[in-house]
Amino acid sequence: MRLEKFGSTGRGVSVIGQGTWDLERADRKPAIAALQRGVELGMTHIDTAEYYGAGRVEEIVGEAIVDRREQVFLVSKVCPNHGTYAQTLKACEDSLKRLRTDRLDVYLLHWRGRADLVGVFKAFLDLQRQGKILHAGVSNFDVHDLEDMRAIEGGQAMVCNQVLYHLEERTIENAVLPWCIDHHLAVTAYSPFGHDRFPTPHSPHGKVLQAIADAHGATPRQVALQFLVHDPHVFAIPKASSVAHTEENAAAVDLRLTAEDFAWLEKTFPKPHLTTALPSL
Ligand SMILES: NC(=O)c1ccc[n+]([C@@H]2O[C@H](COP(=O)([O-])OP(=O)(O)OC[C@H]3O[C@@H](n4cnc5c(N)ncnc54)[C@H](OP(=O)(O)O)[C@@H]3O)[C@@H](O)[C@H]2O)c1
Repeated sequence: MRLEKFGSTGRGVSVIGQGTWDLERADRKPAIAALQRGVELGMTHIDTAEYYGAGRVEEIVGEAIVDRREQVFLVSKVCPNHGTYAQTLKACEDSLKRLRTDRLDVYLLHWRGRADLVGVFKAFLDLQRQGKILHAGVSNFDVHDLEDMRAIEGGQAMVCNQVLYHLEERTIENAVLPWCIDHHLAVTAYSPFGHDRFPTPHSPHGKVLQAIADAHGATPRQVALQFLVHDPHVFAIPKASSVAHTEENAAAVDLRLTAEDFAWLEKTFPKPHLTTALPSL
């Protein structure tokens, strides 16, 4: 697995990691086996949140990593409805318990909502001092949110912004991605397959992906992942609930797309001309 520096943390993190949203809906044993296989394959960046399955997903992740915590770069998120100083401290304690660990590698504010940013960032700083989180970051922050963030105590210490990014949704390339690169924030691409809207094999987009994949003995999903992570500032976190899907996703890192492939992808999945508001799921 390729590692890249995760923003200002200076730590090398797997460019393809593992998402966990909705994992509580999958069969538990194969879901845990998939996460463990992913770690074996170097997909050590695991993304979860208190929001997922109302805590049940963190419990699944906790079970999957309990005997391999040291290998994992563990990210969880506080919901903005816990977005006060005191509630963020409590939410973190609860996540740590469910994840069966004493620390998170990164703790994110899931989205801005009505969170009190001053209180949340103060809580992040205190959690960092206590060693309960090593770093903090944000998610779903547009450029104006990032500017607000920088003006608040603790805001300059944020190490990443986790945002919606896939071939059919390239809005971040116009403003959010350049801003994050300039300010040394890692960009984590969530829903790298478009959640449940990956192009079907017989659609025009699906046919292009298949043709590029065929030329490399690869799969359309591998092409989609490689398109994102060829940029060293971008970390993708596909979610998979089976070992077979995890193995396919991990192997995307070895795919070498040509300049012609990129040109075809650019033409088929153009980025928007105008900079619009940051979309989210
Ligand atoms: N910060 C935020 O607000 C936010 C929002 C959305 C997502 N996220 C994070 O980003 C992660 C990924 O996004 P996502 O879960 O929305 O969707 P996604 O990763 O874009 O797509 C997941 C879907 O793709 C399928 N899949 C995965 N690998 C596959 C393969 N090799 N072949 C065929 N199907 C495959 C999965 O099926 P199976 O489950 O059957 O394998 C699942 O249905 C989330 O899990 C979460 O951790 C964060």
